[in-house]
Amino acid sequence: MHPHLFSSISVGGKELKNRLTMAPLYLGYAGEGGTVTDLVLEHYRLMAKSGVAMVVVENSTVDHPTGSGSNRTIRADTDKNMEGLTNLAANIKEQGALACLQINHAGRFAAIADPALAPSPVKTFGRIPRALTVEEMRKIRKRFVEAALRVKTAGFDMVELHGGTGYLLSSFLSPRTNKRVDEYGGSLENLERFPMEVVREVKSAVGNFPVGYRFLADEWLPDGLKLAESVQFARSLAASGVAYISCMGGTYESFFLPDVIKFSRKEGYMVHLAATIKQEINVPVIAAGRIASGSFAERIISEGKADLIGLARVLWADPEWPEKVKEGKEGEIIHCHPDCDETCTKLVTKGKRAFCVRWPHEKLREWKMKMV
Ligand SMILES: Cc1cc2nc3c(=O)[nH]c(=O)nc-3n(C[C@H](O)[C@H](O)[C@H](O)COP(=O)(O)O)c2cc1C
Repeated sequence: MHPHLFSSISVGGKELKNRLTMAPLYLGYAGEGGTVTDLVLEHYRLMAKSGVAMVVVENSTVDHPTGSGSNRTIRADTDKNMEGLTNLAANIKEQGALACLQINHAGRFAAIADPALAPSPVKTFGRIPRALTVEEMRKIRKRFVEAALRVKTAGFDMVELHGGTGYLLSSFLSPRTNKRVDEYGGSLENLERFPMEVVREVKSAVGNFPVGYRFLADEWLPDGLKLAESVQFARSLAASGVAYISCMGGTYESFFLPDVIKFSRKEGYMVHLAATIKQEINVPVIAAGRIASGSFAERIISEGKADLIGLARVLWADPEWPEKVKEGKEGEIIHCHPDCDETCTKLVTKGKRAFCVRWPHEKLREWKMKMV
């Protein structure tokens, strides 16, 4: 069943046993202050046990609080969290999956930073972030390097740089949010300068350790970053030797626009982004976005639209997805379905811990008890 989906592939010199990965999914399970809790460990153990080849752990901050999405963002910026991070990597690997951790600076979406930091002071949900100085940007690059080294020391197999969702790295690429007139603004070459500096400095510090990149292909905003420009950035990333590019679209400013809500209900709503990027570069590409069925996932791989599948809510809604697909029991899959009105997203944006309304009653009750 699904020979392409269940074939192995080498990524950054590491062998992935199949084409399925867990895409990063922040659910608010970390403790206040970004600690690795028992709930985080249990959640990722379950995700790794599912049979996916690699689990990419949710965005973890490189600089608290200015780089943290929330007070429950896992902290990768302090040695105090090393024990938790080490347990997390071991937990995932014990279940037979590779472990990768995504590191991030939330930039203008850092809810607990005051002021938030950004390339330029462009109003964001009523707040005006402060423009970074070149010296501050140098310090942030250093924080990315330090966090990546912690990820390596903690025993993860790879690190992923978060260049999606409108967070700091992607906000430099966007003509909407980057109005700088120095060497970090203006031309495409300038817009990609800061994220490329981060990539190069991280890669040079971690040495022989794969560095993946979560890639914003299109902001889905009229004046935002478009696929035509992001393709050029993908080429630069590939040339710099990133291990893979994981494609996504949208930012917090576009996710809730009526037409975006409409098309993101569809199966595979971001696959075309991955397919376009894949044609341009020679490193593995991950496609995500409501990849609900095994046959659809198989086609994405067999038709060469992507090399790997990223399952986020899809896997969380049913951690048995890979097994059910492999064994031809697709009819038994519990599907993530947009009719729930995006409950998980709404819960986490309100600072709450997420649950999936599609879980069977027993599981829902069990997890709600764990979350109090
Ligand atoms: C609640 C929520 C949290 C997310 N957290 C992250 C994250 O931490 N990092 C990231 O790169 N993407 C994040 N994403 C995007 C997912 O990785 C994925 O691209 C998207 O949900 C589509 O895949 P899916 O339909 O399988 O969920 C998140 C999405 C949701 C809904």
